Amino acid sequence: MFLFSSTLFACAATTALVSATPSSKVAAACQKAADASVTRDPSLFTSVTYDYVVVGGGTAGMTLAARLAENPRVKVGVIEAGDFFLNDTIINTPSSSFFALGNPTYDWMFATVPQESAGNREIALPRAKLLGGSTGINLMAYNRASASEYDALNKFSGDSKWNWKSFVPFFQKSSTVAPTSDNTLSSRATNTGPVHASYNSFLVEPVGKMVAAFNKLGISTNSDFLDGNGTGIYNSLVSVDREQGTRSYASSYLCGLPPKTNLHILLHAHAAKINFAKSGKTNVKATSVDIVVASKTYTVKASKDVIVSTGTDQTPHLLELSGIGNSAILSKFGIDTLIDLPAVGENFQEHLYTGVEWKLKPGVTTFDILQNNASFAAEQKALYDATGSGWFAGLDATIAFVPMQQLAADSADRVAALFKLLDDERKAAKPDSIQSLQLPIQQQWLQEGKVGQAEFILWSRGLINPQPNESYVFILGGASHPSSRGSVHLQSADPLAPPTIDPRFLSTEFDIQVMLDCIKHIFAVGKTSPFADMLDVQITPDPSVVSDEDLIEYIRGEAAGGHHHIGTAAMAPKSAGGVVDTHLRVYGTDNLRVVDASIIPVHIAAHLESTVYAIAEKAAAMILADC
Ligand SMILES: Cc1cc2nc3c(=O)[nH]c(=O)nc-3n(C[C@H](O)[C@H](O)[C@H](O)COP(=O)(O)OP(=O)(O)OC[C@H]3O[C@@H](n4cnc5c(N)ncnc54)[C@H](O)[C@@H]3O)c2cc1C
Ligand SMILES: *[C@@H]1O[C@H](CO)[C@@H](O)[C@H](O)[C@H]1NC(C)=O
Ligand SMILES: *[C@@H]1O[C@H](CO)[C@@H](O)[C@H](O)[C@H]1NC(C)=O
Ligand SMILES: *[C@@H]1O[C@H](CO)[C@@H](O)[C@H](O)[C@H]1NC(C)=O
Ligand SMILES: *[C@@H]1O[C@H](CO)[C@@H](O)[C@H](O)[C@H]1NC(C)=O
Repeated sequence: MFLFSSTLFACAATTALVSATPSSKVAAACQKAADASVTRDPSLFTSVTYDYVVVGGGTAGMTLAARLAENPRVKVGVIEAGDFFLNDTIINTPSSSFFALGNPTYDWMFATVPQESAGNREIALPRAKLLGGSTGINLMAYNRASASEYDALNKFSGDSKWNWKSFVPFFQKSSTVAPTSDNTLSSRATNTGPVHASYNSFLVEPVGKMVAAFNKLGISTNSDFLDGNGTGIYNSLVSVDREQGTRSYASSYLCGLPPKTNLHILLHAHAAKINFAKSGKTNVKATSVDIVVASKTYTVKASKDVIVSTGTDQTPHLLELSGIGNSAILSKFGIDTLIDLPAVGENFQEHLYTGVEWKLKPGVTTFDILQNNASFAAEQKALYDATGSGWFAGLDATIAFVPMQQLAADSADRVAALFKLLDDERKAAKPDSIQSLQLPIQQQWLQEGKVGQAEFILWSRGLINPQPNESYVFILGGASHPSSRGSVHLQSADPLAPPTIDPRFLSTEFDIQVMLDCIKHIFAVGKTSPFADMLDVQITPDPSVVSDEDLIEYIRGEAAGGHHHIGTAAMAPKSAGGVVDTHLRVYGTDNLRVVDASIIPVHIAAHLESTVYAIAEKAAAMILADC
């Protein structure tokens, strides 16, 4: 999800209020598994030759490693740059999920290069640096895209095994969805996975009012958003273990499964380079990974596969450091090209959001109450410490995914105009580029109107300079299938230096026009009862911002990312801009795979965590079958 940078300051003051007790329970429950697997000793860790070396103990990496290690005959080694925050109230307390962002203890602190089409801003790109990865700092909305968005993977893989039907068992294998009385989630029945998802146990007042306003504007409530139709408005699941009242994230693959002595995890280890041997005439075989721990270099040996799971921003970076990428880029940094694969680091895609904030009339309670009423906050803290419930266990999670056909009164003309913009891009794209595969799919989705094109999210709290004793709502809107494409590449040959990330936000007219429709829809919601009845004044944009021209200026100046980075090591044919094949093997290698969000070739109308877990579960099954 999304965050304006000012939120960090707005919320920082309440950090002291978060509780220790439920967090401590989580820590106690995990101690055995952690003792069996986690080490900070690089000499001990590198004394073993692993069958599988997983680089990056994040969302996909932890999922994959734990499943591979369920085969007792294989040894699995995980290299993670960050720490394990087992007993950390900021990570574990749902209401504090904002506080890790922009905090170098947990966040790599990346930012974009100045974004030419977005006010020349350098926009923050939070990414987690910790065991469990970005699910350890994310905003926990747990949902899925529509079936046809997963089926589209077939068009990139020519392989019937990458489709919705094949994803469902892996969605289920990764998660356990808490039973509910009012919602029927048909995909819930066989869930047995370590990651818990549940509903908030209470809804703040603006939620019902927003849902009612959307319904009046023709957007229905979707009570089964896990079942292949991801459109409509709904109260999303959140990845919270409701019994404890704590964040449930990829560390659950360690803590929530039986301890494993064949799974070793090294913390504070930064992977610097993958080493290869020649294999046959054309290929290379990964043999080991160089890591840097406290300024010293060590080597981790792999006998079967090396799997890169360092995420969309760092996976292409590590490939380039290892000699796999665009030779023109590598040579600039004095790196010898082992495999010339120009698609590495290209095709970066992200969900961008704009938004409208209002101050509310007196009497409507929002999450601002935790700042406004110290005795209420103290009561809630005591309740959370004792039971893991109440406001500290809650967070915003009201989301809508809407086809363009449902947004504008003149929707047929609007869809045709947007279709034409994608058509112009398609004609301009090189025939052998990944865009020439993507754009017809995006056009079809737009025209059929069955998958989300615009997303809306409610924040029931002040994000922009909130004033004491006031309450606010903020509705975000953004394009689910943007056509801007960016890149991630080396900034330096120093493996510890951050990558250069250029998302090229808002670089297409299509993206600007969808964002414009989004903000107009949010204004329409603001005029629709009962949502409209609680609003006092509009805070942002300034009420004078109304013309298309001014709104576009506002969007370019304020839009920010939703942290759903994908695409930089896309699964697609090599001839069409792919980096990995359908078994997630990097082209030109026998045994180097990528398993993380970077393999997703085109964006989906959903937040990513459930999909990343499912990709990693699927990859584990595939790799064990291949061995
Ligand atoms: C702030 C934020 C909010 C989000 N909100 C939501 C949400 O509400 N709902 C949702 O579904 N999704 C959300 N997402 C998206 C989702 O969490 C991510 O898409 C997903 O977790 C990515 O998984 P991954 O495995 O690709 O990468 P990650 O989980 O980021 O894992 C990468 C791991 O590799 C490690 N690493 C990187 N480089 C190296 C190196 N060189 N050596 C060793 N280790 C390395 C990192 O430390 C990290 O642990 C959010 C993401 C963020 C960042
Ligand atoms: C967790 O941390 C708290 C305080 O920071 C401490 O009192 C508690 O013993 C710790 N629990 C575990 C299991 O480490
Ligand atoms: C998906 O669900 C929404 C909300 O219930 C509904 O309006 C829409 O018609 C459904 N779409 C499809 C393709 O069934
Ligand atoms: C603040 O919270 C306390 C405790 O719940 C409540 O009794 C009091 O009425 C609240 N104050 C205001 C101004 O709402
Ligand atoms: C907020 O309201 C409370 C209760 O009415 C009051 O005591 C306090 O002074 C107010 N704070 C500010 C900054 O106005």
